Amino acid sequence: VRGGSPGDDLRGRHVVVSAGGTREYLDPVRFLGNRSSGRQGYALASTAAARGAEVTLVAANVSLPDPAGVKVVRVATTAELRDAVLAATPSADAVVMAAAPADFRPVSVSTAKIKKADDGTAPAIDLVQNPDVLAEVAADRARPGSVVVGFAAETGDDAGTVLEHARAKLARKGCDLLVVNDVSGGAVFGSPDNEAVILSAEGEPVVVPRGTKAALAHAVWDRVGLLLEDPDR
Ligand code: CTP
Ligand code: CA
Repeated sequence: VRGGSPGDDLRGRHVVVSAGGTREYLDPVRFLGNRSSGRQGYALASTAAARGAEVTLVAANVSLPDPAGVKVVRVATTAELRDAVLAATPSADAVVMAAAPADFRPVSVSTAKIKKADDGTAPAIDLVQNPDVLAEVAADRARPGSVVVGFAAETGDDAGTVLEHARAKLARKGCDLLVVNDVSGGAVFGSPDNEAVILSAEGEPVVVPRGTKAALAHAVWDRVGLLLEDPDR
């Protein structure tokens, strides 16, 4: 739907969207987390529903009201997010990973609250890497022709530009589209707006100018819709 007006082009499609940031618990009251608000994922879910899709929204620690007409599955950790996403993907035409899963989790979770030592020392926290849900979904491709989309916030550095890092990530993950935010200029967390470049494995990148998260969501579904209709895939 060009111009962002709601339509019906996703009718009959099932889409899975993840949103928010996962938490990895250290003990019953503490966790490692991140600042993802879940707003972009919620915008993706509500715009997909407005375009006629059946939507499963896997929400990690998001404090936003459930979007109308969307099935919401609430999760806390990356392991729970993985289980919920993989449970929904066999029937999915598209999976969009807008969530920020924690990359690491503590090796063990203490069942009792961790107490301070009297001698002023601090405990070390041993971490282990979490599974990569996006790479797993892209490798599985439960449904032939389904579309897998990732999100990435990148900065340029000595090793490469934002787009170079993003291209490498797209290839590494094996997804069809990667929505890239350039965060070199500062954080976008909690902002109502977003701007991005949508990279595809084949074809030219699409620049989405600064606008609402709903506008970016519509631009993503436009690209997903084109891939779903593509007879050569
Ligand atoms: N992602 C995922 N599972 C993870 C980490 C990330 O599915 N354990 C997904 C995110 O939801 C996002 C995409 O992968 O769609 C890119 O996330 P990003 O954090 O940029 O990728 P990483 O591989 O974790 O790379 P980095 O080292 O830059 O954090
Ligand atoms: Ca990461």
